[in-house]
Amino acid sequence: MSETPLVDELEKGPWPSFVKEIKKTAEIMEKKAAEGKDIKLPKTARALLKLLEISYRDKKTHWKHGGIVSVVGYGGGVIGRYSDLGDKLPEIEHFHTMRINMPAGWFYSTKALRSLCDVWGESGGSGLTNMHGSTGDIIFLGTRSEYLQPCFEDLGNLEIPFDLGGSGSAVRTPSACMGPALCEFSCYDTLDLCYELTMAYQNEIHRPMYPYKFKIKCSGCPNDCVAAKARADFAIIGTWKDEIQIDEEAVKEYAKWMDIENEVVKLCPTKAISWDGKELKINAKDCVRCMHCINKMPKALKPGNERGATILIGGKAPVLEGAIIGWVAVPFIEVKKPYDEIKEILNATLEWWDEEGKFRERVGELIWRKGMKEYLRVIGREVDVRIVKAPRNNPFMFFKKEELRPSPFVEELKRRGMF
Ligand code: HEM
Ligand code: HEM
Ligand code: SF4
Ligand code: SF4
Repeated sequence: MSETPLVDELEKGPWPSFVKEIKKTAEIMEKKAAEGKDIKLPKTARALLKLLEISYRDKKTHWKHGGIVSVVGYGGGVIGRYSDLGDKLPEIEHFHTMRINMPAGWFYSTKALRSLCDVWGESGGSGLTNMHGSTGDIIFLGTRSEYLQPCFEDLGNLEIPFDLGGSGSAVRTPSACMGPALCEFSCYDTLDLCYELTMAYQNEIHRPMYPYKFKIKCSGCPNDCVAAKARADFAIIGTWKDEIQIDEEAVKEYAKWMDIENEVVKLCPTKAISWDGKELKINAKDCVRCMHCINKMPKALKPGNERGATILIGGKAPVLEGAIIGWVAVPFIEVKKPYDEIKEILNATLEWWDEEGKFRERVGELIWRKGMKEYLRVIGREVDVRIVKAPRNNPFMFFKKEELRPSPFVEELKRRGMF
């Protein structure tokens, strides 16, 4: 009988099987080692399957808690991991993960990928990867402590070199949607901004120095294809200020087969759009740039010409205070090289959070604790009605002392030293 009967079940069915991938990797690594190639971890992929089988049987993980390893000069980028079955499966006692910063938009040449594979197979890796981690990094899955540094150096010496991504209480690897490389909806150059921010914040990415993690994501339009608003503390989402561009001839082409009234007009969230059978009209003042009409009729409608982005702050997963979808901090900002305005807001945010944030407090939670008024002061922005969905429904407002006019009540508070 097979050594991994439970795991083997997952080779069945139509979806590409990760079990097959691991087995394939195990075979390639073992074969190369048998051919006399200098493969440092030929048996790790096979051992992972065995470990997984045991976890399936026991219904629990067999990784020990935590693990702290890194490369020289960096404090993040590697996630240490040790198995609690190291005595049984020594090949997998160490199984550290290296995060490798991907190119913006995940655009590769086969040459770049080939060289990554060579390094990972031959410099001490298991041969297993994750393309890609949820934050965006290429994940090199499984190596030993002693191979981290050589692997890192080999990556840096490639003709197309790769650096580590982020982990820990640091700025994490920024990511971007494919943007203007392929998508005609893109309102700014997501790839360039992502790259520029990655380079500008190298120190903050490699050397954790903050209360907790901080993620940046760039989406070219409100479709938000990298889910920036849900998965980034700082989401930069493309938008426009003027009118949607309409090509009336192309609208007529759609009208030949599409039910514009029911599929577009009636679904516009603000009823900003109308169609009389001849002409399509959009009232720019009412349009909330939801993208629906543009998504439906991409050949006829395009984002406007005055383009930029909205910055949403605070997106995060549930721990501790509850999940947050980022909310509007800056309704509109120009996205022009060298992106100084965006960097100023980022710098102010990071500095304030570093100063005020509690241990493992995300920036969204800090703003909940301190108030949006304080955050807007920090980034030098005015209060704007667009940052709320509705005004507060309780009367517990704070006033600045200067805002109060002299009165017997204020005098009495002063007399009692309560002011
Ligand atoms: C050996 C144990 C563990 C390992 C290796 C591990 C690993 C990780 C990794 C790699 C991430 C992603 C980090 C990032 O994107 O910054 C993460 C995030 C997270 N982990 Fe763990 N984890 C472990 C145990 C736990 C446990 C026991 C819990 C909860 C009971 C937990 C809850 C979370 C949560 C909620 C996040 C997401 C936090 C956020 O994005 O705000 N983890 N963990
Ligand atoms: C061999 C074991 C594991 C590996 C290789 C692994 C790897 C990863 C990777 C690569 C990511 C994406 C990180 C990123 O791109 O930011 C991730 C995310 C995460 N991991 Fe793990 N992980 C492991 C075990 C665990 C364990 C044991 C836990 C919790 C008990 C855990 C919880 C999480 C959570 C909560 C996230 C964040 C998910 C998200 O935000 O989408 N992981 N892990
Ligand atoms: S977020 Fe918008 S610009 Fe980016 S890929 Fe998606 S649709 Fe295109
Ligand atoms: S983008 Fe959305 S809100 Fe604006 S007109 Fe089109 S459907 Fe309506």
